[in-house]
Amino acid sequence: DGSLASLTAEVQAMCAVQWRGDVALLPRGSLSGPLWDALQQHSVQASPASDGSPFAGGLWELMRRALQARLLARQREIRVDCGVREGNVEVLAGSGSTWVVVPGPKGVRYSFDIARCMFSEGNAGEKERVRSWPVSGETVLDMYAGIGFWTLPLLVAGAEQVFSCEWNPDAVEGLRRGLELLGEPLARRCQVFAGDNRRKEVQQAVEGKCHRVMLGLIPTSRDGFPNAIAALRPAGGMLHVHWNAPADAEAATAQGIAEELEAMLLAARGGSWKCEVTAIQRVKSFAPKVRHLRIDIKCERLVS
Ligand SMILES: C[S@@+](CC[C@H](N)C(=O)[O-])C[C@H]1O[C@@H](n2cnc3c(N)ncnc32)[C@H](O)[C@@H]1O
Repeated sequence: DGSLASLTAEVQAMCAVQWRGDVALLPRGSLSGPLWDALQQHSVQASPASDGSPFAGGLWELMRRALQARLLARQREIRVDCGVREGNVEVLAGSGSTWVVVPGPKGVRYSFDIARCMFSEGNAGEKERVRSWPVSGETVLDMYAGIGFWTLPLLVAGAEQVFSCEWNPDAVEGLRRGLELLGEPLARRCQVFAGDNRRKEVQQAVEGKCHRVMLGLIPTSRDGFPNAIAALRPAGGMLHVHWNAPADAEAATAQGIAEELEAMLLAARGGSWKCEVTAIQRVKSFAPKVRHLRIDIKCERLVS
């Protein structure tokens, strides 16, 4: 019947397998559905492990071995409305821990649990850009640190101190492991704040100390604005604001955010402030006609 042809067509149309360390990750929704489930079930029944069959474990185990992966898993959707951006994968074959180590820019190694933390392949270019920023000697606040996507490259790039906030305990564990892999003395330059970045305690610790603040949350990082502007040094600094913007209104969106921040700075810090958009970086396409942007805003206290 047409089943074999349709299965073959699916394999041919499938996007490339991605790797997370020694875990092979099938794209979301690929090789799934009743036909594939039936194939797996039949292949397991037809080749019991007790027979010593080379096909024991069925289709997924066969595929795992062919790929020479420790685990074979399938990506599920990472929901943007999930506050902790937990990872979402389905392990199909193999055994052992779902913790992996993957290489990042400048020798950085990220460590995370693929079942519990997100890792955005789409942000790879952005990590490369961040690691080349001139942050030597600077103090940076990373408000949405995750497993250290920006924190670790910033430390390698020479930041004097990085304050990293993260409220997902699994991501915090990944961040701590990544810092351990980075080793001393760099790891000692990072202070991790586990919990909500909007806490008073965070504000008090970072107040007036930071040259730049990373606001890496989409669709919007507006919730982080109060502590971000409190963190800037008396003369000001850079805010790197991540935002999902309509593709036909990138500049207007950025300008609106700069004006909002200027008003907040004026109200919270007094004096006179100028907030200027210095760059709009497209990070990735988020949805049709919606772009994930990084908007760089230079905040400067004006002296009269
Ligand atoms: C999109 S991830 C950012 C990871 C990384 N910066 C990147 O862009 O690839 C956002 C992270 O912020 C964390 N987060 C969201 N709201 C937070 C809050 N109010 N306080 C602390 N962490 C928060 C989530 O748990 C998640 O790990």
